[in-house]
Amino acid sequence: MKQILMEPKTIQNNKKSTEDNSKSKIDSKEEIIIKEEQTIKEKTLSDLPGVGPATIEKLEAVGYTDLMSVAVATPGELIDVTGMTQAAAKKIIATARSSLDMGFESGEDVLKKREKVIRVSTGSEAFDALVGGGFESAAITECYGEFGSGKTQIGHILAVNCQKQFPGSTVVYIDTENTFRPDRIEQLSKSVGLDPMDVLKNIKVAKAFNTDHQMLLGEKVEDLIKKQGLDVKLIIVDSLTAHFRAEYIGRGTLAERQQKINRHMRDLAKLAHMYNLCAYVTNQVMSKPDQFFGDPTQAIGGHIVGHASTFRLYLRKGKKGSRVAKLVDSPNLPEGEASFFVEGSGLKDI
Ligand code: GTP
Ligand code: MG
Repeated sequence: MKQILMEPKTIQNNKKSTEDNSKSKIDSKEEIIIKEEQTIKEKTLSDLPGVGPATIEKLEAVGYTDLMSVAVATPGELIDVTGMTQAAAKKIIATARSSLDMGFESGEDVLKKREKVIRVSTGSEAFDALVGGGFESAAITECYGEFGSGKTQIGHILAVNCQKQFPGSTVVYIDTENTFRPDRIEQLSKSVGLDPMDVLKNIKVAKAFNTDHQMLLGEKVEDLIKKQGLDVKLIIVDSLTAHFRAEYIGRGTLAERQQKINRHMRDLAKLAHMYNLCAYVTNQVMSKPDQFFGDPTQAIGGHIVGHASTFRLYLRKGKKGSRVAKLVDSPNLPEGEASFFVEGSGLKDI
């Protein structure tokens, strides 16, 4: 693998090549990288030492479906699931880690990746400015807030704006609450001058009936990209947590719930990074009765969701029917607020 990687560098350093030549060589560099990604992705659980069909079945039954999930597992987790020895568990984790490119990359490489980041506009200047110019790709942006605070509306608006900005791109909408409304997409499309039918054609909506279904749909997005060749630029999960909240009731189930949400978000993060797409998830709040000061609400999903989201926004109803978004967490932006109205044509600045 290293050898393959060396090649394009020497090509690039060859200053004698004509412009045409260097262009075709850059193309071939891209091809090499694509091929390299494919060889990484083609490896499966069966490539792990001592892992036979019976073990694979046990692993897959609880969600260890690819090398990445094994690579980030602890030996104890694998022992619990498969009954294998400590030594065997350590060995397969080590093998999974070494076969995935989990190593370091230079700051320069990270910078180059950052240059490719796209931002989907919310339609409100103030809101866009708050999040650094729009909802970012290679990241998960979470909006949490009470009912009617605008989370679903923002999903619809992003779906339309994404197509305005990136014609021909695809939006995936995982709808867990049955709140996707094509007529709303129609209305929003017209207001930005797009043909509603074209926009609707490029939104792939899937209703998730329970948490397992929701997680499966998340995993299936990769098929849309790889097998159907769709240029997915935006994935919306509305709501991320509603099914989890309904299915896992009571304290005894909390650990399992959190583990599953974590895996689901890791899948979304992986897609976002691998395919430079934008992931938008919505989340409810619950009241925190012991809080006497400030806002007595907190997001569902606790620290797991908070940490897995790259950008975290709290939405609330403001004065005169406005909505206020507060940036609660972000890797590089200051905390702040933006106010806007949700209108028929989309978000409007105040
Ligand atoms: P839950 O899913 O119930 O937690 O709420 P949410 O945060 O998803 O709320 P949602 O995005 O559905 O916001 C609903 C609000 O948006 C409504 O109360 C309206 O104020 C506003 N809204 C929705 N559709 C329209 C529309 O077509 N025109 C206008 N002007 N406002 C709308
Ligand atoms: Mg909603």
